Amino acid sequence: MNSRAVAFVTGAGRGIGRGIALALARDGFDIVGNDIAYNPGERATGLAEVEDRIRELGMGFQPAPGDIANLDAHDRLLQTALQRFARVDVLVNNAGIAPEARRDVLDTTPESFDRVLAVNTRGTFFLTQCFARQMLRQPHGPVSPAIVFISSVSAVVSSPTRAEYCISKAALSQAAAVFADRLAGAGINVYEVRPGIIATDMTAAVKTQYDARIAAGLVPQKRWGQPEDVGRAVAALARGDFGYATGLVIELSGGMNIRHL
Ligand code: NAI
Repeated sequence: MNSRAVAFVTGAGRGIGRGIALALARDGFDIVGNDIAYNPGERATGLAEVEDRIRELGMGFQPAPGDIANLDAHDRLLQTALQRFARVDVLVNNAGIAPEARRDVLDTTPESFDRVLAVNTRGTFFLTQCFARQMLRQPHGPVSPAIVFISSVSAVVSSPTRAEYCISKAALSQAAAVFADRLAGAGINVYEVRPGIIATDMTAAVKTQYDARIAAGLVPQKRWGQPEDVGRAVAALARGDFGYATGLVIELSGGMNIRHL
């Protein structure tokens, strides 16, 4: 049995998932990093880059490539983690996608709706089901088991040009609540983290627009969030610092949660 705590992070190859994987490794977790692909010959980007950073931190890293929207891949992803570390203490559901094109809600296509929900909601839901069953089976490890959902402020904030994304995250928020409710008695805590506007590849295309809106006051703290902002918060949850607060929702949005006049 692995002596260190083990965290499985989806979409760990870049952006927020990378920030979470590195923050957890800094806190002493071994990491299983999922993303669509793992290219060991290409060490400057993706899971291989994250692997090198985590090894530098002295922690173990196991790549677990696969598409979380493919339900048939879920057990293989779990087995990849178990073969290496024999246990998964923390699941971080970070992988998610934005619509390929922003379209008015009156023009949202069924194809884009299905694509976004297949990853953000359906894939994440069934991956969580698969990992929660394992957490219920396995003996207690060095930290209390926990599941963290990375949703978004879009779970509660409307963007009429990204309806399918907002709907996918609102549904994900309820998935977090239902798993929190079901697993509370078994000692598995479930949390939801709602990032605001975070500087990653996902938001790169709208950087100029958001720069202006942030400067104009959209974000009270007047800056972009960074993947590290999310990573540190997830690490605190994974360590158990909020151990008496299952179902907790944390918004990390530089104060967008403040209603002001
Ligand atoms: P990103 O696009 O920069 O990175 C996402 C990573 O997930 C990529 O490495 C990608 O290959 C991987 N991924 C995508 N679909 C996958 C799948 N089906 N299976 C496995 N891996 C997959 O995105 P970012 O910004 O790092 O977002 C991470 C999460 O945070 C997403 O769920 C996103 O919705 C959420 N989020 C992002 C915000 C932002 O402002 N960037 C704000 C709020 C939430």
